[in-house]
Amino acid sequence: MTPTARLSAAIELLDTVLSGVNAERALTNWARGNRYAGSKDRRAIRDYVFDALRCLRSYAWLGGAGEATPTGRQVMIGALRANGVDLDTLFSGERFSPEPLTDAERDLPPLDGAPRGVRLDTPDWLLPMFDAALGAEADAVLAKCRERSAVFLRVNRRKATVKQAIEMLADDDIVAAPHGLSEGALIVTKGARAVARSLAYLDGAVEVQDAGSQAIINTLPIEDGQSVLDYCAGGGGKALALACKADVSVTAHDIDPSRMQDIAPRSERAGVTIRTAGAAQLDDIYDLVVADVPCSGSGSWSRAPQAKWALTPERLTELTEIQAQILDEVAPRVAKGGVLGYMTCSLFEVENGDQITGFLARHPEFSVEVTRLITPLEGADGFFVCVLRKSA
Ligand SMILES: C[S@@+](CC[C@H](N)C(=O)[O-])C[C@H]1O[C@@H](n2cnc3c(N)ncnc32)[C@H](O)[C@@H]1O
Repeated sequence: MTPTARLSAAIELLDTVLSGVNAERALTNWARGNRYAGSKDRRAIRDYVFDALRCLRSYAWLGGAGEATPTGRQVMIGALRANGVDLDTLFSGERFSPEPLTDAERDLPPLDGAPRGVRLDTPDWLLPMFDAALGAEADAVLAKCRERSAVFLRVNRRKATVKQAIEMLADDDIVAAPHGLSEGALIVTKGARAVARSLAYLDGAVEVQDAGSQAIINTLPIEDGQSVLDYCAGGGGKALALACKADVSVTAHDIDPSRMQDIAPRSERAGVTIRTAGAAQLDDIYDLVVADVPCSGSGSWSRAPQAKWALTPERLTELTEIQAQILDEVAPRVAKGGVLGYMTCSLFEVENGDQITGFLARHPEFSVEVTRLITPLEGADGFFVCVLRKSA
């Protein structure tokens, strides 16, 4: 595909996504209907769409939409303007290219005079929550969320040392280096798309996991011989990290068992055993219970940018109610003297500190040992973890 054809495809896709369709689904459907597009084309178009979703408000503004819902064309005009690309070359009107620019599209406003939420690509109603949680760092964090996130790997110490993992990856032309946020975390600087086909990955020496996610797991006290329950296990990222860290017996649970289907192949690759269990199969108590609750995801919006625009005050309230309910459900399953690890990938107090305050008021048998908020300024996704100890 020519660069202009790729641009036309991105405009078409953004129109679909802006009408409410999930971006991943829209991209898959588009690829099915346009088989002539090669993998490089699909990648370029995907990058256009996801970059635009990260910077939707500022690109819409630069594309002339003001604060109204933009068209795909306006968003892409804004994106190209923001990146200093010559618009006339791409909007040439030739075959497969978008229509030439109109006079109005040649006279668009700069970003300087735009409101703060537009400049920082954040819905206005969320700005006070970012300010409350991050203070003077709020703008820098929000600016960071406008950037693409890196690919991180976790070295599985059961299969390889950090040095060995880096060498194995290098054999497949993948360049990775230790990342300071967490011991055993690697940041991939070249060849990220080849990771899933690499020997290091297929042999279980590395697993894909954000460095922030690894760091919060490393905050949990864990000892050989303990029983561990990952109560909101999903695809098992945290459960796997725990099983690889110590000789513990790990049980994974999720209200939606279908979300756990990758746990078996992932744990087999990693050389560990994880038992998946429905509510009726859970033991009464565990030494360590992890509650990685559903949340707004506000710490990981550079990875999942559509969620930033989809969140509503009603949904956030609903999420905080679910979080409190999960905390109440797991509290009795923590052994006396045991630990409850509460975690979110959110930066908002209402999902983090406020949840802990409410929980301690309802469950005075717990006390806080450690609290940590990781922000995207540390180089990875944002996460919150609170380690709560139950009295003996
Ligand atoms: C943040 S995701 C978990 C991610 C996972 N721990 C990981 O590291 O890959 C939250 C999970 O909580 C599950 N969930 C939601 N409500 C729940 C509940 N009441 N009990 C158990 N799991 C729940 C969701 O199905 C979802 O898979």
